[in-house]
Amino acid sequence: MVTIEVNGRQLTVKQNLSVLQACLENDIYIPNLCFMEDMPHPPASCRLCFVEVAGMQRPVTSCTVKVAPAMVVKTDTPAVRRLQRSGLRFLLSVHHVDCQNCPANKNCELQRLARFLKIGLKPKHLENHLQDIAIVENHAYLTYYPNRCVLCAKCIHACRMSHGHSLISFVGRGFNTSLSFAGICDFEQTACNTCRSCADICPVGALVLKTACER
Ligand code: SF4
Ligand code: SF4
Ligand code: FES
Repeated sequence: MVTIEVNGRQLTVKQNLSVLQACLENDIYIPNLCFMEDMPHPPASCRLCFVEVAGMQRPVTSCTVKVAPAMVVKTDTPAVRRLQRSGLRFLLSVHHVDCQNCPANKNCELQRLARFLKIGLKPKHLENHLQDIAIVENHAYLTYYPNRCVLCAKCIHACRMSHGHSLISFVGRGFNTSLSFAGICDFEQTACNTCRSCADICPVGALVLKTACER
């Protein structure tokens, strides 16, 4: 066990935890989208979980930094909030915000983050850069909405945990990255009907189970 200080509070936590895990386990919320407890190597792709650590020159992503004895952490400084807000603004700039027509409405991590960071889901002067890519419907049980996806990789990890390997993967690079169902045979698609791990873990409305009449 190690003792760290977070926002002036002493926490005694397990040695191998990330700062993010240590804080979340002690009810200190740090915005995050791509962290999963059992993911051995977090992708650190959402760029939201910044904190300040004494002795480090710049804020760091708390999902990639392990706790250390006597570490002093601040989770709510102006610099941290500025970085988190710009991270969220970036995500919103590539997101098709249409909550009324989204199955995740009112149960959406982006909505929660926007509330927490006190910014609107459609900030003024924010240019939208949506991908020119169609909704992916070539799966018997799932529909993928690329312009709602935050590329957190949680679905890929959840699928790997359920099946030993992931049946879904990212394709493309950078701005053009999206999920693909390519290579899933009919038998594996049948397994998806009873599994649902990927759709359940998706923090937004990007991966959605088809209704009986959509199949
Ligand atoms: S994923 Fe969330 S923010 Fe995006 S349209 Fe759906 S409910 Fe709205
Ligand atoms: S489909 Fe959902 S869980 Fe998968 S990468 Fe996109 S946002 Fe994350
Ligand atoms: S949770 Fe740390 S970068 Fe996404």
